[in-house]
Amino acid sequence: MIDLIKQLCEAWGPSGYEHHVRALIKQHAEPYADSVTTDPLGNLICRVGSGGKRAMIAAHMDEIGMIATFVEPKSGYLRFSPVGGLLANTLVGNRVRFEDGTLGVISVHEAMSANRNSLPNLDSFYIDVSDGNGNGAVQAGSPAAFDRTMEQRGTRLIGKAMDDRIGCAVALETMKRLNKQTPNEVVFVFTVQEEVGLRGARAAAFGIDPDVAIALDVTLTGDMVRGEKMAVRLGGGAAIKLHDPGLVVLPAVRDWMIGRAEADGIPYQRELLSGGTTDASAAQTARSGVPSGCISIPCRFVHTTSETVDVNDVEACVHLLTALLSSPIPL
Ligand code: CO
Ligand code: ZN
Repeated sequence: MIDLIKQLCEAWGPSGYEHHVRALIKQHAEPYADSVTTDPLGNLICRVGSGGKRAMIAAHMDEIGMIATFVEPKSGYLRFSPVGGLLANTLVGNRVRFEDGTLGVISVHEAMSANRNSLPNLDSFYIDVSDGNGNGAVQAGSPAAFDRTMEQRGTRLIGKAMDDRIGCAVALETMKRLNKQTPNEVVFVFTVQEEVGLRGARAAAFGIDPDVAIALDVTLTGDMVRGEKMAVRLGGGAAIKLHDPGLVVLPAVRDWMIGRAEADGIPYQRELLSGGTTDASAAQTARSGVPSGCISIPCRFVHTTSETVDVNDVEACVHLLTALLSSPIPL
């Protein structure tokens, strides 16, 4: 599974430009799905099984990035707008890649001046794409994503776009382990445009009309140096969401997930997240309402180029999702 995670993390796909990631996932999903289709927004929809309850399992393919908005006439430096939640304090010196392969380096005037302690607005940053020969100009309108390889340190996996390619990996691995055997109708959806407002999941949930929805996404951890007021830690198991600003998990969904984890001895932790949300919050209000939950992969340094997860947590998430989908869903 680590090879798969590496391929997924290193793939290029800022929000709205998920086609390379979609092609990669499609290739891995096809042997384990009864049908694989793409909807009008670009969500990849993989159906497995028939009869019983219809479950939508959502993991987003897109990653944060930026889009070039203006080419400075004299210098050729690019100005850009953020695509998703870019953190200004992670940008200077970071590398980005455009779809044509052009590498860019991000900087900001202030970083090179005496005033190094202030954090400027995103609109003071620029990207250098010069090649020294006046070639390879990048046009305004070109999207870019961070450029980093995925690396392993013991059980830790470190890379860009763990948010949410690790969720995509959990979905793919679960499809593989189910091997088309489930008493439910399971619809795995690899969604688009989550980072810019859960747009793909909202459309997909309407089209699929599920009885229950589960998002697979990263969550923050409380095990940083200062210690946030959050009990989730790296290596503590699958995080079963109870609450975030966009989703109150219904007791029936909570009890179904926690009950399964306890019955099967799967390491889990209760997740209460005070900032951010997932595709589950879009799915829950589709049509006449969909009971929704989330299995989260604990992740340090979210929205940086070194998002860090633990393989044991990833395994616990796959184990839990496979177990939930292998029995009739009691909702
Ligand atoms: Co994110
Ligand atoms: Zn995410």
